[in-house]
Amino acid sequence: MKQKWWHDKVAYQIYPKSFLDTNGDGIGDLRGIISKLDYIKKLGIDIIWLSPIYKSPFVDQGYDIADYYAIAEEFGTMEEFDELLSEAKKRDMYIIMDLVINHCSDQHEWFQKALADPEGEYADYFYFRKGKNGNPPSNYRSYFGGSCWEPVPGTDKFYFHMFAKEQPDLNWENPKLRQELYRMINWWMEKGVAGFRIDAIINIKKNPDFPDFEPDGKDGMAGCQKMVESVDGVGDLLEDLKKNTFQKYDAFTVAEVFSIKPGELEQFIGEDGHFSTIFDFSAHSLSEGDLGWYDAPDVDFKKWRETVINAQLEIQKHGFEANIIENHDEPRGVSRFLPEYARTPRGAKMLGTISVLFRGIPFIFQGQEIGMQNAVWNDIDEYDDISTKDQYHIAREAGLSNEEALEVCGRMSRDNGRTPVQWNDNENAGFTTGTPWLKVNPNYKEINVESQENDAESVLNYYRGLVAVRKSSEYKEVFTYGSYIPVYENTQTIMAYYRVNADKRILVAANFGQDEIELRLEYPAKNVILSNRESASKERVNIPGQVLKLGSCEVIVLECEHTV
Ligand code: GLC
Ligand code: CA
Repeated sequence: MKQKWWHDKVAYQIYPKSFLDTNGDGIGDLRGIISKLDYIKKLGIDIIWLSPIYKSPFVDQGYDIADYYAIAEEFGTMEEFDELLSEAKKRDMYIIMDLVINHCSDQHEWFQKALADPEGEYADYFYFRKGKNGNPPSNYRSYFGGSCWEPVPGTDKFYFHMFAKEQPDLNWENPKLRQELYRMINWWMEKGVAGFRIDAIINIKKNPDFPDFEPDGKDGMAGCQKMVESVDGVGDLLEDLKKNTFQKYDAFTVAEVFSIKPGELEQFIGEDGHFSTIFDFSAHSLSEGDLGWYDAPDVDFKKWRETVINAQLEIQKHGFEANIIENHDEPRGVSRFLPEYARTPRGAKMLGTISVLFRGIPFIFQGQEIGMQNAVWNDIDEYDDISTKDQYHIAREAGLSNEEALEVCGRMSRDNGRTPVQWNDNENAGFTTGTPWLKVNPNYKEINVESQENDAESVLNYYRGLVAVRKSSEYKEVFTYGSYIPVYENTQTIMAYYRVNADKRILVAANFGQDEIELRLEYPAKNVILSNRESASKERVNIPGQVLKLGSCEVIVLECEHTV
């Protein structure tokens, strides 16, 4: 395998609006990020992904871009962005931007020009289609609810949007549009970004006939993902994109791809794949409801274990995937993947260890490193997220009471990942001196960076040690390129695997259960690399008779004899 500069890197996602506010307007900003670069560096991070910071009306929190060449005023200026780039560089860190090119904002100049002249050149940057007898051209439901089609005022046409109506989809079949996007991407690369996280990229390929699909909901519509899943040919567009942009710069690209077809992994992340890597969402897809969040199942440990093991096994045949437990679209991992008794510092360390030492590129989401959890939401008005509001209505329409619908949103809302980072136990968790744009999780008194800085056994300090182990000169090779081999995969509450290469065999084993479990080691233990056992220095964990005892929520990283 050809080695790449990003293979051994660890990444961190910043959701700028909620990271740190430095001017009291309640909104996180670039100054805030710059001031915390040392903090991020100390965690062992190499690559920082910034969720969108472009000019935007923020209907979908910046995923609706009004100007691809401008920084949102809320976040700062282009000079500050340049400063961020150079300060990151000084610390040997790379910045990657969020690339949202399936759609733009309805405030973007292209869309405004298209509306002004629906027969003109810019209308063809989008999908403008005639309706059927005054009805939308097809029966698709958008991801955020309602039809995918919105009337173009003063015409008998509709425009297409898979997300909010303020996010019109761009027409990738138009070569002129593609050139405009490539020029923009290269402009950012020339500026010095190291690559991109690429939003909803699989959605760029449409079936230009927009055929109706079998309705799958009470509204008589069919989810628009049906069209995405049924259409072929996205690969040609993705290759064109890569050749004209990323490839020229040896960029690092990580794509958000939800519905990959069987057998397509090689084309996406193989040596000559469309992208460097894509996120592994297999665990997250487990709690997807058929009808909405309200019928989303809770994550079952055994199903989760089987799913992530299979994903790891499949991925390593082709390349690297990016491993996450949470992001800005997901509930907090500790609240989602751990049972109630495990939602503790110990549990957070256990989950983090499993994820960070998987084969692939670890992505840590802001606040994950201190074990942030879902917030408690008392009223639908406390939410900002467009998708949460839609899902609340879906739940109510399905007959759930206000309390029940709130419970569903509390479990699943994207805003759980978006509450401000908890820096200390001052007012508003030290995030802002003003009024935060989204409520602060009331548990900030217990969970915050400052108190964890001063506690050798905090989640934060554990994460620092965890990343350091992964990147240490001794173990970097095996954690980067070593193969992944599941073990004890049917043993009660154990989640365990080996990372193995020519000269090392590492066992990572965790007990997700409440009772202690004994494991007979297959390979004699050499030394304990890491353990989350409180006030046990690693030397003190001993393994008499090669029987490893793991208490509730205990995780161990053990170097074993390479062969028996
Ligand atoms: C991606 C983003 C999400 C956004 C959507 C539309 O899924 O992560 O936040 O709402 O795309 O851009
Ligand atoms: Ca601010």
